[in-house]
Amino acid sequence: MPARFAAPDTAALPLHLIESDGLDPWLADQPAPVAAWAKASGFTGALGTALMIPGPEGAPVAALAGYGTAAQRARHRFPLAGAVPSLAPGVYRIASGLPEGGAMTESLGWLLTGYQFTRYRAGSDVTRALVAPEGVDAGRVETLAAAEWLTRDLVNTPASDMGPDALEAAARALAADHGASIEVITGDDLLARNFPMIHAVGRASAQAPRLIDLRWGASGPLLTLVGKGVCFDTGGLNLKPGASMGLMKKDMGGAANTLGLAQAIMTLGLKLRLRLLIPAVENSVAGNSFRPGDILTSRKGLTVEINNTDAEGRLVLADALSYGDDEAPDLMISMATLTGAARVAVGPDLAPFYADDEALAAALAQAGGQLADPVWRMPFHTPYEAMIEPGIADLDNAPSGGFAGSITAALFLRRFTAQAKRYAHFDIYAWQPSAAPGRPKGGLGQGGRAILGALPEVLDL
Ligand code: BES
Ligand code: ZN
Ligand code: ZN
Repeated sequence: MPARFAAPDTAALPLHLIESDGLDPWLADQPAPVAAWAKASGFTGALGTALMIPGPEGAPVAALAGYGTAAQRARHRFPLAGAVPSLAPGVYRIASGLPEGGAMTESLGWLLTGYQFTRYRAGSDVTRALVAPEGVDAGRVETLAAAEWLTRDLVNTPASDMGPDALEAAARALAADHGASIEVITGDDLLARNFPMIHAVGRASAQAPRLIDLRWGASGPLLTLVGKGVCFDTGGLNLKPGASMGLMKKDMGGAANTLGLAQAIMTLGLKLRLRLLIPAVENSVAGNSFRPGDILTSRKGLTVEINNTDAEGRLVLADALSYGDDEAPDLMISMATLTGAARVAVGPDLAPFYADDEALAAALAQAGGQLADPVWRMPFHTPYEAMIEPGIADLDNAPSGGFAGSITAALFLRRFTAQAKRYAHFDIYAWQPSAAPGRPKGGLGQGGRAILGALPEVLDL
Protein backbone atom coordinates (compact mmCIF):
# COMPACT_ATOMS: atom_id res chain seq x y z
CA MET A 1 0.00 0.00 0.00
CA PRO A 2 1.38 3.40 -0.91
CA ALA A 3 2.26 5.47 2.13
CA ARG A 4 -0.17 8.01 3.41
CA PHE A 5 0.11 10.75 5.96
CA ALA A 6 -1.37 10.18 9.42
CA ALA A 7 -4.67 11.97 9.95
CA PRO A 8 -4.08 15.49 11.33
CA ASP A 9 -5.90 14.67 14.57
CA THR A 10 -3.73 11.62 15.33
CA ALA A 11 -1.85 11.74 18.63
CA ALA A 12 1.67 12.41 17.37
CA LEU A 13 5.06 12.88 18.96
CA PRO A 14 6.64 16.26 18.33
CA LEU A 15 9.75 15.91 16.19
CA HIS A 16 12.38 18.63 16.26
CA LEU A 17 14.85 18.95 13.41
CA ILE A 18 18.13 19.97 15.00
CA GLU A 19 21.03 21.39 13.02
CA SER A 20 24.54 20.61 14.26
CA ASP A 21 25.09 24.11 15.55
CA GLY A 22 21.53 24.40 16.82
CA LEU A 23 21.74 21.67 19.44
CA ASP A 24 23.24 23.65 22.33
CA PRO A 25 20.81 26.57 22.02
CA TRP A 26 17.90 24.14 21.77
CA LEU A 27 19.01 22.15 24.82
CA ALA A 28 19.51 25.36 26.82
CA ASP A 29 15.73 25.85 26.69
CA GLN A 30 14.94 22.29 27.78
CA PRO A 31 14.58 20.79 31.28
CA ALA A 32 17.93 19.60 32.68
CA PRO A 33 17.14 15.85 32.28
CA VAL A 34 16.47 16.30 28.57
CA ALA A 35 19.79 18.05 28.06
CA ALA A 36 21.56 15.40 30.15
CA TRP A 37 19.92 12.60 28.13
CA ALA A 38 20.84 14.13 24.80
CA LYS A 39 24.45 14.70 25.87
CA ALA A 40 24.79 11.23 27.39
CA SER A 41 23.36 9.67 24.20
CA GLY A 42 26.00 11.35 22.10
CA PHE A 43 23.42 13.09 19.93
CA THR A 44 25.08 15.93 18.02
CA GLY A 45 22.51 16.87 15.42
CA ALA A 46 24.48 15.03 12.74
CA LEU A 47 22.43 14.54 9.58
CA GLY A 48 20.63 11.23 9.46
CA THR A 49 20.66 10.54 13.20
CA ALA A 50 17.70 10.52 15.61
CA LEU A 51 17.07 10.52 19.33
CA MET A 52 13.93 9.65 21.25
CA ILE A 53 13.31 11.84 24.32
CA PRO A 54 11.77 9.93 27.22
CA GLY A 55 9.35 11.52 29.70
CA PRO A 56 9.29 10.82 33.43
CA GLU A 57 7.57 7.44 32.87
CA GLY A 58 10.12 6.38 30.28
CA ALA A 59 7.76 6.60 27.32
CA PRO A 60 8.89 8.99 24.56
CA VAL A 61 7.42 12.48 24.71
CA ALA A 62 9.37 13.94 21.78
CA ALA A 63 12.01 13.05 19.24
CA LEU A 64 14.96 14.77 17.63
CA ALA A 65 16.20 14.31 14.09
CA GLY A 66 19.72 15.44 13.30
CA TYR A 67 19.62 17.96 10.45
CA GLY A 68 23.36 18.57 10.02
CA THR A 69 24.35 21.64 8.06
CA ALA A 70 22.97 23.18 4.88
CA ALA A 71 26.08 21.98 3.04
CA GLN A 72 25.50 18.39 4.19
CA ARG A 73 21.81 18.52 3.34
CA ALA A 74 22.68 19.69 -0.15
CA ARG A 75 24.25 16.28 -0.75
CA HIS A 76 20.94 14.53 -0.21
CA ARG A 77 17.71 14.45 -2.12
CA PHE A 78 15.65 13.74 1.02
CA PRO A 79 17.81 14.89 3.97
CA LEU A 80 15.27 14.14 6.69
CA ALA A 81 14.48 10.68 5.35
CA GLY A 82 17.89 9.44 6.49
CA ALA A 83 16.86 9.86 10.14
CA VAL A 84 13.45 8.23 9.86
CA PRO A 85 14.55 4.58 10.21
CA SER A 86 16.28 5.50 13.49
CA LEU A 87 13.07 6.83 15.02
CA ALA A 88 10.93 4.55 17.17
CA PRO A 89 7.84 3.22 15.37
CA GLY A 90 5.00 5.66 15.85
CA VAL A 91 3.39 8.82 14.57
CA TYR A 92 5.23 12.14 14.35
CA ARG A 93 4.55 15.76 13.56
CA ILE A 94 7.38 18.13 12.78
CA ALA A 95 7.37 20.67 15.60
CA SER A 96 10.38 22.79 14.65
CA GLY A 97 13.34 23.17 12.36
CA LEU A 98 11.79 22.55 8.95
CA PRO A 99 13.27 25.11 6.54
CA GLU A 100 10.88 27.21 4.54
CA GLY A 101 10.30 25.59 1.19
CA GLY A 102 11.49 22.18 2.39
CA ALA A 103 8.20 20.84 3.69
CA MET A 104 6.98 19.32 0.42
CA THR A 105 10.11 17.39 -0.49
CA GLU A 106 10.93 16.35 3.07
CA SER A 107 7.44 15.01 3.61
CA LEU A 108 7.56 13.22 0.26
CA GLY A 109 10.91 11.74 1.27
CA TRP A 110 9.36 10.58 4.54
CA LEU A 111 6.53 8.79 2.75
CA LEU A 112 9.02 7.16 0.41
CA THR A 113 10.94 5.67 3.35
CA GLY A 114 7.88 3.41 3.67
CA TYR A 115 8.39 1.86 0.25
CA GLN A 116 9.08 -1.87 0.26
CA PHE A 117 8.89 -4.33 -2.59
CA THR A 118 6.82 -7.08 -1.03
CA ARG A 119 5.69 -9.15 -4.01
CA TYR A 120 8.01 -12.05 -3.27
CA ARG A 121 8.81 -11.67 0.43
CA ALA A 122 6.88 -10.23 3.34
CA GLY A 123 8.05 -6.79 4.35
CA SER A 124 8.39 -5.22 7.75
CA ASP A 125 5.13 -4.03 9.29
CA VAL A 126 6.83 -1.39 11.44
CA THR A 127 5.57 2.06 10.49
CA ARG A 128 6.77 5.56 11.18
CA ALA A 129 3.98 7.86 10.14
CA LEU A 130 4.00 11.60 9.67
CA VAL A 131 1.23 14.13 10.05
CA ALA A 132 1.49 16.33 6.95
CA PRO A 133 3.32 19.55 7.86
CA GLU A 134 1.31 22.72 7.73
CA GLY A 135 1.08 24.26 4.29
CA VAL A 136 1.75 20.98 2.52
CA ASP A 137 -0.87 19.75 0.06
CA ALA A 138 -1.12 16.28 1.61
CA GLY A 139 -3.17 14.79 -1.21
CA ARG A 140 -0.72 15.97 -3.84
CA VAL A 141 2.29 14.60 -1.96
CA GLU A 142 0.50 11.27 -1.48
CA THR A 143 -0.21 11.22 -5.20
CA LEU A 144 3.48 11.78 -5.96
CA ALA A 145 4.39 8.98 -3.55
CA ALA A 146 1.83 6.63 -5.11
CA ALA A 147 3.23 7.35 -8.58
CA GLU A 148 6.73 6.54 -7.37
CA TRP A 149 5.37 3.36 -5.75
CA LEU A 150 3.79 2.16 -8.95
CA THR A 151 6.90 2.90 -10.99
CA ARG A 152 9.19 1.09 -8.53
CA ASP A 153 6.91 -1.95 -8.27
CA LEU A 154 6.71 -2.28 -12.04
CA VAL A 155 10.48 -1.98 -12.50
CA ASN A 156 11.30 -4.30 -9.61
CA THR A 157 9.03 -7.06 -10.85
CA PRO A 158 11.18 -9.41 -12.91
CA ALA A 159 10.39 -10.30 -16.50
CA SER A 160 9.02 -13.67 -15.36
CA ASP A 161 6.05 -11.71 -13.97
CA MET A 162 6.35 -8.48 -15.98
CA GLY A 163 6.38 -9.53 -19.59
CA PRO A 164 4.33 -7.76 -22.26
CA ASP A 165 1.16 -9.53 -20.97
CA ALA A 166 1.65 -8.23 -17.43
CA LEU A 167 2.65 -4.76 -18.58
CA GLU A 168 -0.55 -4.62 -20.60
CA ALA A 169 -2.49 -5.81 -17.54
CA ALA A 170 -0.92 -3.03 -15.46
CA ALA A 171 -1.95 -0.44 -18.03
CA ARG A 172 -5.47 -1.90 -18.19
CA ALA A 173 -5.75 -1.80 -14.39
CA LEU A 174 -4.66 1.83 -14.35
CA ALA A 175 -7.15 2.68 -17.10
CA ALA A 176 -9.97 0.94 -15.22
CA ASP A 177 -9.14 2.79 -12.00
CA HIS A 178 -9.45 6.16 -13.69
CA GLY A 179 -12.07 5.63 -16.37
CA ALA A 180 -9.51 5.86 -19.18
CA SER A 181 -10.00 4.05 -22.46
CA ILE A 182 -7.42 1.64 -23.72
CA GLU A 183 -6.69 -0.12 -26.97
CA VAL A 184 -3.97 -2.70 -27.43
CA ILE A 185 -2.67 -3.76 -30.83
CA THR A 186 -1.04 -7.16 -30.58
CA GLY A 187 1.09 -9.57 -32.62
CA ASP A 188 0.38 -9.74 -36.34
CA ASP A 189 -2.12 -6.91 -36.02
CA LEU A 190 0.96 -4.72 -35.58
CA LEU A 191 1.91 -5.58 -39.15
CA ALA A 192 -1.61 -5.11 -40.46
CA ARG A 193 -1.80 -1.70 -38.82
CA ASN A 194 1.70 -0.66 -39.84
CA PHE A 195 3.91 -0.89 -36.78
CA PRO A 196 6.69 -2.88 -38.45
CA MET A 197 9.51 -2.05 -36.09
CA ILE A 198 7.58 -2.88 -32.90
CA HIS A 199 6.76 -6.20 -34.52
CA ALA A 200 10.32 -6.85 -35.71
CA VAL A 201 11.85 -6.26 -32.29
CA GLY A 202 9.24 -8.22 -30.36
CA ARG A 203 8.35 -11.11 -32.66
CA ALA A 204 10.95 -13.55 -31.28
CA SER A 205 9.49 -13.41 -27.79
CA ALA A 206 7.18 -16.03 -26.25
CA GLN A 207 4.74 -13.22 -25.44
CA ALA A 208 3.51 -11.28 -28.44
CA PRO A 209 4.72 -7.72 -28.98
CA ARG A 210 2.05 -5.06 -28.64
CA LEU A 211 1.32 -1.37 -28.60
CA ILE A 212 -0.65 -0.13 -25.61
CA ASP A 213 -2.67 3.03 -26.28
CA LEU A 214 -4.40 4.63 -23.29
CA ARG A 215 -6.47 7.82 -23.46
CA TRP A 216 -7.96 9.93 -20.71
CA GLY A 217 -9.60 13.35 -20.46
CA ALA A 218 -12.16 15.01 -22.69
CA SER A 219 -10.82 18.52 -23.17
CA GLY A 220 -7.73 20.66 -22.88
CA PRO A 221 -4.31 20.46 -24.49
CA LEU A 222 -3.09 17.06 -25.66
CA LEU A 223 -0.16 15.49 -23.81
CA THR A 224 1.21 12.32 -25.38
CA LEU A 225 3.58 10.21 -23.32
CA VAL A 226 5.57 7.39 -24.93
CA GLY A 227 7.33 4.89 -22.67
CA LYS A 228 9.84 2.24 -23.68
CA GLY A 229 8.37 -1.06 -22.59
CA VAL A 230 11.13 -3.56 -23.32
CA CYS A 231 10.22 -6.07 -20.63
CA PHE A 232 13.57 -7.80 -20.99
CA ASP A 233 16.47 -6.83 -23.19
CA THR A 234 18.75 -9.74 -24.02
CA GLY A 235 20.30 -7.60 -26.75
CA GLY A 236 18.77 -9.92 -29.35
CA LEU A 237 21.22 -11.67 -31.70
CA ASN A 238 23.81 -9.10 -30.61
CA LEU A 239 23.40 -10.77 -27.25
CA LYS A 240 24.45 -8.79 -24.21
CA PRO A 241 27.19 -10.29 -22.06
CA GLY A 242 25.91 -11.62 -18.73
CA ALA A 243 26.97 -8.67 -16.63
CA SER A 244 25.15 -6.24 -18.92
CA MET A 245 22.03 -8.39 -19.21
CA GLY A 246 21.61 -8.90 -15.49
CA LEU A 247 19.56 -5.78 -14.84
CA MET A 248 17.59 -5.75 -18.05
CA LYS A 249 14.24 -6.43 -16.37
CA LYS A 250 14.35 -2.68 -15.87
CA ASP A 251 14.31 -1.97 -19.60
CA MET A 252 10.61 -1.17 -19.26
CA GLY A 253 11.57 1.64 -16.87
CA GLY A 254 10.39 4.26 -19.34
CA ALA A 255 6.96 2.60 -19.50
CA ALA A 256 6.92 2.33 -15.70
CA ASN A 257 7.69 6.03 -15.36
CA THR A 258 5.02 7.05 -17.85
CA LEU A 259 2.48 4.82 -16.08
CA GLY A 260 3.34 6.43 -12.72
CA LEU A 261 3.11 9.88 -14.25
CA ALA A 262 -0.19 9.04 -15.97
CA GLN A 263 -1.56 7.82 -12.65
CA ALA A 264 -0.59 11.12 -11.00
CA ILE A 265 -2.10 13.21 -13.81
CA MET A 266 -5.39 11.32 -13.64
CA THR A 267 -5.54 11.29 -9.84
CA LEU A 268 -4.96 15.04 -9.72
CA GLY A 269 -7.53 15.54 -12.46
CA LEU A 270 -5.35 17.84 -14.56
CA LYS A 271 -7.30 19.70 -17.21
CA LEU A 272 -5.71 18.08 -20.21
CA ARG A 273 -6.14 15.21 -22.62
CA LEU A 274 -3.66 12.45 -21.95
CA ARG A 275 -2.50 9.77 -24.33
CA LEU A 276 -0.06 7.12 -23.22
CA LEU A 277 1.64 4.90 -25.80
CA ILE A 278 3.72 1.95 -24.67
CA PRO A 279 5.35 -0.40 -27.15
CA ALA A 280 5.61 -3.52 -24.98
CA VAL A 281 8.01 -6.18 -26.21
CA GLU A 282 10.74 -8.52 -25.15
CA ASN A 283 13.98 -8.34 -27.13
CA SER A 284 14.59 -12.08 -27.41
CA VAL A 285 16.59 -14.58 -29.40
CA ALA A 286 14.84 -17.10 -31.66
CA GLY A 287 14.84 -18.25 -35.28
CA ASN A 288 12.66 -15.32 -36.22
CA SER A 289 14.73 -12.65 -34.48
CA PHE A 290 15.52 -9.56 -36.50
CA ARG A 291 19.19 -9.54 -37.50
CA PRO A 292 22.18 -7.26 -37.80
CA GLY A 293 22.19 -5.92 -41.34
CA ASP A 294 18.43 -6.17 -41.76
CA ILE A 295 16.78 -3.06 -43.12
CA LEU A 296 13.42 -2.29 -41.58
CA THR A 297 10.89 0.13 -42.98
CA SER A 298 9.38 2.12 -40.13
CA ARG A 299 5.76 3.18 -39.79
CA LYS A 300 6.77 6.62 -40.98
CA GLY A 301 8.39 5.15 -44.10
CA LEU A 302 11.98 5.90 -43.14
CA THR A 303 14.20 2.86 -43.64
CA VAL A 304 16.48 1.77 -40.82
CA GLU A 305 19.61 -0.31 -41.13
CA ILE A 306 20.04 -2.53 -38.09
CA ASN A 307 23.65 -2.38 -37.08
CA ASN A 308 23.03 -3.71 -33.59
CA THR A 309 19.93 -5.56 -32.44
CA ASP A 310 20.67 -4.27 -28.94
CA ALA A 311 19.70 -0.76 -30.03
CA GLU A 312 16.07 -1.92 -30.03
CA GLY A 313 14.49 0.77 -27.88
CA ARG A 314 14.71 3.49 -30.51
CA LEU A 315 13.06 1.15 -33.02
CA VAL A 316 9.94 0.41 -31.00
CA LEU A 317 9.75 4.01 -29.83
CA ALA A 318 10.05 5.34 -33.38
CA ASP A 319 6.85 3.59 -34.49
CA ALA A 320 5.01 4.67 -31.34
CA LEU A 321 6.25 8.25 -31.68
CA SER A 322 5.14 8.51 -35.33
CA TYR A 323 1.71 7.22 -34.33
CA GLY A 324 1.46 9.78 -31.54
CA ASP A 325 2.86 12.50 -33.77
CA ASP A 326 0.04 12.08 -36.31
CA GLU A 327 -2.38 14.06 -34.17
CA ALA A 328 0.12 16.87 -33.51
CA PRO A 329 0.03 16.81 -29.71
CA ASP A 330 0.69 20.01 -27.81
CA LEU A 331 3.44 18.20 -25.96
CA MET A 332 4.97 14.80 -26.63
CA ILE A 333 7.43 13.20 -24.22
CA SER A 334 9.30 9.93 -24.52
CA MET A 335 10.85 8.21 -21.52
CA ALA A 336 13.23 5.32 -22.04
CA THR A 337 16.13 3.40 -20.59
CA LEU A 338 17.59 4.00 -24.00
CA THR A 339 21.37 4.02 -23.77
CA GLY A 340 24.21 2.98 -21.51
CA ALA A 341 25.88 6.20 -22.67
CA ALA A 342 23.36 8.31 -20.70
CA ARG A 343 24.31 6.56 -17.49
CA VAL A 344 27.99 7.06 -18.25
CA ALA A 345 27.39 10.76 -18.91
CA VAL A 346 25.37 11.73 -15.83
CA GLY A 347 25.25 8.71 -13.51
CA PRO A 348 22.17 7.24 -11.85
CA ASP A 349 20.99 10.35 -9.96
CA LEU A 350 20.18 12.71 -12.79
CA ALA A 351 17.59 12.19 -15.49
CA PRO A 352 19.08 13.48 -18.75
CA PHE A 353 16.56 15.00 -21.11
CA TYR A 354 16.50 16.57 -24.55
CA ALA A 355 14.23 19.41 -25.67
CA ASP A 356 14.56 21.99 -28.42
CA ASP A 357 11.99 24.28 -26.82
CA GLU A 358 13.77 26.61 -24.39
CA ALA A 359 10.70 27.30 -22.26
CA LEU A 360 9.96 23.59 -21.95
CA ALA A 361 13.56 22.83 -20.96
CA ALA A 362 13.60 25.61 -18.37
CA ALA A 363 10.27 24.51 -16.89
CA LEU A 364 11.46 20.90 -16.60
CA ALA A 365 14.70 21.89 -14.90
CA GLN A 366 12.94 24.19 -12.49
CA ALA A 367 10.19 21.74 -11.57
CA GLY A 368 12.74 18.95 -11.15
CA GLY A 369 14.60 21.07 -8.64
CA GLN A 370 11.45 21.82 -6.69
CA LEU A 371 10.13 18.27 -6.64
CA ALA A 372 13.27 16.32 -5.71
CA ASP A 373 13.55 14.94 -9.23
CA PRO A 374 16.78 16.34 -10.63
CA VAL A 375 17.00 16.47 -14.41
CA TRP A 376 19.75 17.67 -16.72
CA ARG A 377 19.36 19.06 -20.20
CA MET A 378 21.37 17.44 -22.95
CA PRO A 379 21.84 18.78 -26.49
CA PHE A 380 19.87 17.73 -29.55
CA HIS A 381 23.09 18.50 -31.44
CA THR A 382 21.94 18.67 -35.05
CA PRO A 383 25.45 18.42 -36.58
CA TYR A 384 25.53 14.83 -35.30
CA GLU A 385 22.60 13.92 -37.57
CA ALA A 386 25.15 12.62 -40.08
CA MET A 387 26.19 9.98 -37.56
CA ILE A 388 22.79 8.25 -37.80
CA GLU A 389 22.80 8.17 -41.63
CA PRO A 390 24.54 4.98 -42.79
CA GLY A 391 24.24 5.25 -46.55
CA ILE A 392 22.14 2.33 -47.74
CA ALA A 393 19.11 3.22 -45.62
CA ASP A 394 17.73 6.46 -44.25
CA LEU A 395 18.84 5.76 -40.70
CA ASP A 396 21.31 3.66 -38.73
CA ASN A 397 20.08 2.32 -35.40
CA ALA A 398 23.58 1.93 -33.93
CA PRO A 399 26.21 4.29 -35.28
CA SER A 400 29.71 2.86 -35.23
CA GLY A 401 32.28 4.65 -33.14
CA GLY A 402 29.95 5.10 -30.22
CA PHE A 403 30.51 8.83 -29.92
CA ALA A 404 27.69 10.67 -28.15
CA GLY A 405 25.57 7.55 -27.86
CA SER A 406 22.74 9.16 -25.92
CA ILE A 407 22.63 12.16 -28.27
CA THR A 408 22.53 10.08 -31.44
CA ALA A 409 19.74 7.95 -29.96
CA ALA A 410 17.80 11.13 -29.13
CA LEU A 411 18.36 12.49 -32.66
CA PHE A 412 17.05 9.20 -34.05
CA LEU A 413 13.82 9.61 -32.05
CA ARG A 414 13.44 13.26 -33.02
CA ARG A 415 13.17 12.22 -36.68
CA PHE A 416 9.75 10.76 -35.83
CA THR A 417 8.28 13.82 -34.10
CA ALA A 418 7.79 16.46 -36.79
CA GLN A 419 4.19 17.41 -35.96
CA ALA A 420 4.25 17.60 -32.15
CA LYS A 421 4.26 21.22 -31.03
CA ARG A 422 6.91 20.48 -28.42
CA TYR A 423 8.91 17.36 -27.79
CA ALA A 424 11.12 16.20 -24.92
CA HIS A 425 12.92 12.91 -24.54
CA PHE A 426 14.22 11.43 -21.28
CA ASP A 427 17.04 8.86 -21.45
CA ILE A 428 16.72 7.51 -17.91
CA TYR A 429 18.38 4.84 -15.80
CA ALA A 430 15.31 4.05 -13.64
CA TRP A 431 17.37 2.25 -11.05
CA GLN A 432 18.89 3.11 -7.69
CA PRO A 433 22.16 1.14 -7.58
CA SER A 434 22.69 1.35 -3.81
CA ALA A 435 20.32 2.45 -1.07
CA ALA A 436 19.97 6.14 -0.22
CA PRO A 437 17.41 7.79 2.11
CA GLY A 438 13.93 7.29 0.63
CA ARG A 439 15.43 5.32 -2.25
CA PRO A 440 16.12 1.64 -1.56
CA LYS A 441 18.20 -0.25 -4.08
CA GLY A 442 15.99 -1.08 -7.04
CA GLY A 443 13.54 0.55 -9.40
CA LEU A 444 13.40 4.34 -9.28
CA GLY A 445 11.15 7.00 -10.73
CA GLN A 446 13.06 9.58 -12.76
CA GLY A 447 11.70 12.62 -14.54
CA GLY A 448 8.02 12.07 -13.78
CA ARG A 449 7.74 14.69 -11.06
CA ALA A 450 9.73 17.17 -13.15
CA ILE A 451 7.28 16.67 -16.02
CA LEU A 452 4.24 16.90 -13.75
CA GLY A 453 5.53 20.12 -12.21
CA ALA A 454 6.27 21.65 -15.62
CA LEU A 455 2.87 20.92 -17.17
CA PRO A 456 0.92 23.91 -15.81
CA GLU A 457 3.38 26.37 -17.29
CA VAL A 458 4.11 24.54 -20.51
CA LEU A 459 0.50 23.68 -21.35
CA ASP A 460 -1.02 26.78 -19.77
CA LEU A 461 -3.24 24.74 -17.45
N1 BES B 1 18.49 -1.03 -22.72
C1 BES B 1 19.74 -0.67 -23.29
C2 BES B 1 20.34 0.58 -22.68
C3 BES B 1 20.80 0.53 -21.26
C4 BES B 1 21.85 -0.27 -20.87
C5 BES B 1 20.20 1.36 -20.33
C6 BES B 1 22.29 -0.25 -19.58
C7 BES B 1 20.63 1.37 -19.05
C8 BES B 1 21.68 0.55 -18.67
C9 BES B 1 19.60 -0.42 -24.78
O1 BES B 1 18.64 -1.14 -25.42
C10 BES B 1 20.94 -0.70 -25.37
O2 BES B 1 21.40 -1.79 -25.22
N2 BES B 1 21.53 0.28 -26.01
C11 BES B 1 22.83 0.15 -26.56
C12 BES B 1 22.85 0.88 -27.88
C13 BES B 1 24.06 0.66 -28.71
C14 BES B 1 24.11 -0.79 -29.19
C15 BES B 1 24.04 1.60 -29.88
C16 BES B 1 23.85 0.74 -25.60
O3 BES B 1 23.57 1.77 -25.00
O4 BES B 1 24.92 0.15 -25.46
ZN1 ZN C 1 19.25 -3.06 -26.06
ZN1 ZN D 1 16.98 -1.75 -24.26
